[in-house]
Amino acid sequence: MVDVDSFIPEAIAEIETAVGDGRAIIALSGGVDSSVAATVAHRAIGDRLIPVYVDTGLMRAGETESIRETFSFMEQLEIVDARDRFLAALAGVTDPEEKRQVIGETFIRVFEEQARRVDATYLVQGTIYPDRIESEGGIKSHHNVGGLPEVIDFDGIVEPVRDLYKDEVREVARALSLESVIAERMPFPGPGLAVRMIGEVTEEKLSVARASCAIVEEELEEYEPWQALAAVIGKATGVKGDNRVHGWVVAVRSVDSRDGMTARAQDIDWETLQRIQSRITGENPSVARVVYDVTHKPPATIEYE
Ligand code: XMP
Repeated sequence: MVDVDSFIPEAIAEIETAVGDGRAIIALSGGVDSSVAATVAHRAIGDRLIPVYVDTGLMRAGETESIRETFSFMEQLEIVDARDRFLAALAGVTDPEEKRQVIGETFIRVFEEQARRVDATYLVQGTIYPDRIESEGGIKSHHNVGGLPEVIDFDGIVEPVRDLYKDEVREVARALSLESVIAERMPFPGPGLAVRMIGEVTEEKLSVARASCAIVEEELEEYEPWQALAAVIGKATGVKGDNRVHGWVVAVRSVDSRDGMTARAQDIDWETLQRIQSRITGENPSVARVVYDVTHKPPATIEYE
């Protein structure tokens, strides 16, 4: 386990040395990894850190407001509304790997524009140990690893939490007094809600996935899942009022894990599952069915794409 008392000053010193008098940029995602990396970097270089949050439209409910509030102490915080740009780039894209690529590339373009605009020559990233392993192993392309430095010519890249596991990052977050909404937050994938739907990303599916994820996170809080989510996995017949409808099928997933590399589906009681079902179908008229995913990782992954 990480020794936070020595980790934090060492990380601060590393960033001070690496960046010197320069300016650094970091992409905030709202997750604990980039939040910790940004907070440590802010302690090291203060206003010479420019945190950028790109609103991709693929984020959780209330994410942008929550970022604005949590990081209001960072004067340089930039919030970029790129929702239309992402949706346009993703139109008609159905292949899972291509979706990731399109999101990664669009993100790089938007971020690159910001880096040039604010004249930042260093990049701080919240990459953690399992991200590196999964990307190096070619399991799937993580959009937060690798892409940015290859395209944008930075003088240096600093990854203060690169050797930590998720639970260690959380420990550092608590030591930094990052609000518990961040420190205890479930992981959320870089490509966001796009990997919580099968096939094309559309505004309608996004709104179902976003609303359903919020319900699932809320209703399963007492189970303290490592990650809980909902995904739009297809269409099926249902009955709403007096009509047969062809509505969305939403899968609910809740897992325990240490590092995301393996995971166990949680045993959730029937009453809770029924409450989730009734809220998701009740609050989303276009949803016809809710199913619970009982598959561990392996053989499944945690996300759907
Ligand atoms: P899977 O679905 O591969 O996910 O079992 C393992 C963990 O990684 C998260 N995840 C991602 N995180 N960029 C990220 O930053 C990504 O492209 C990505 N894909 C999956 C996932 O939410 C889970 O915590």
